[in-house]
Amino acid sequence: MKVYLETYGCQMNVSDSQKLLTLLAAAGYEAGEDPARADLIIINTCSVRDKPEQKVFSALGRYLPLKKRRPGLVVAVGGCVAQQWGAALQRRCPDLDLVFGTHAIDRVPALVVAVRETRQPAAVTDFREEIPSLDVVPAQPPGAVAAFVTIMQGCDNYCSYCIVPYVRGREYSRTSAAILAEIRALVSRGIKEVTLLGQNVNSYGRRPAGEIGFVELLRRVDGIAGLARLRFTTSHPKDLSPALAAAFGELEHLCPHIHLPLQAGSDAVLRRMGRGYTAAEYLEKVAALRRARPDIALSTDLIVGFPGEKEADFQRTMDLLEEVRYDTVYSFKYSPRPGTRAAALAGQVPDEVKKERLRRLQQRQDEITAANLRALEGSRQEVLVEGPAKKGAGRWVGRTPGNRIVNFSGPAGLLGSLVPVKITRALRHSLQGELD
Ligand code: SAH
Ligand code: SF4
Ligand code: F3S
Repeated sequence: MKVYLETYGCQMNVSDSQKLLTLLAAAGYEAGEDPARADLIIINTCSVRDKPEQKVFSALGRYLPLKKRRPGLVVAVGGCVAQQWGAALQRRCPDLDLVFGTHAIDRVPALVVAVRETRQPAAVTDFREEIPSLDVVPAQPPGAVAAFVTIMQGCDNYCSYCIVPYVRGREYSRTSAAILAEIRALVSRGIKEVTLLGQNVNSYGRRPAGEIGFVELLRRVDGIAGLARLRFTTSHPKDLSPALAAAFGELEHLCPHIHLPLQAGSDAVLRRMGRGYTAAEYLEKVAALRRARPDIALSTDLIVGFPGEKEADFQRTMDLLEEVRYDTVYSFKYSPRPGTRAAALAGQVPDEVKKERLRRLQQRQDEITAANLRALEGSRQEVLVEGPAKKGAGRWVGRTPGNRIVNFSGPAGLLGSLVPVKITRALRHSLQGELD
């Protein structure tokens, strides 16, 4: 039996998809690339903005008609759109066999069997107190050097624009014992770098109570023999403690890079977003990080055109770009999400204004990104080799500790090793170098 799986959205969804494939492999399914030859098609969806949400309907438009030619085919939708819509998705698309929510990953193999046997559609989207799929250990793709390890699920922050708390449920942490065991097993199979994953990793251990906190978890992971690099994502600035900032100066394997979503530079906008910090407080956290680790690289997420955002508010976001000088910025037009507080706010910003602000922001950030990369020309970087480069025979691709991508030429057999690379040239979003 063949399963074809398509994934949208964040790393959480990518990890859930890996877990699904792992569970389905145990149930006799082999992953395939061709939807027309699949026995099971799964679309793992994202609803964080309107655009990714629309993708599920175009995907269903492509795949549901295949059922006419393949009577046994089961089509399923999972992830955040599934969680939000539930059985309503099947009212809109009557041929859709299975809808499963973000807490139902572990139940998918049995649900597929039931749907196949009964030919009755099913929708399973209840939130559960404990989430068994948190402890499903995803199989790593062959040759993987770096892996993501989920440490928690859900979010309790309810930023006013964001759908995630509604589709992922409450924050829930995995036990440190399970996390440490998974990482030890990964390292013994050749993984060199792990990224601890959660919507809000700084609040690791808050629920259920009785666990160690995030900084202590980092300390224990850092001590695992054979692990070369440690990263984490995502941190909420309001919960970034002085102890966490200090850890960047103390833990040997913790890489000098942090993704710290700012969202907006204006205090008035931040307040309406419910972010729980001011721009000045954010900058103080950045300063603490830089005191602990002067070479730390920063990346962020920004939203333009939040309800009520005036040109002067937007200028504050532009000011923060100059003050922080991020390496990478993921920027989005505000997209109203049904049921969130911000969707009901007055002062929705017209799309042309959002578009124009986004363009200005991205144009300026491209210059800053390029300047940051140029500043590395001539430096020597330790690169973890992640695989063959997309282009060029004998070329490798890897990352610096600061998470910048480097392409360089080298002999066979470098996969997974840490090599010194002299940076020769900065491109728009990556670096070129040569073995030093
Ligand atoms: N938990 C993470 C990621 C949340 S989703 C965090 O808090 O950083 C990833 C990004 O999508 C957010 O950081 C935000 O910039 C963006 N985003 C979320 N909701 C959005 C919306 N309604 N419109 C536009 N962008 C949004
Ligand atoms: Fe969404 Fe805010 Fe939670 Fe991030 S912290 S997932 S932006 S509610
Ligand atoms: Fe999207 Fe769900 Fe992630 S809404 S961003 S896939 S948590």
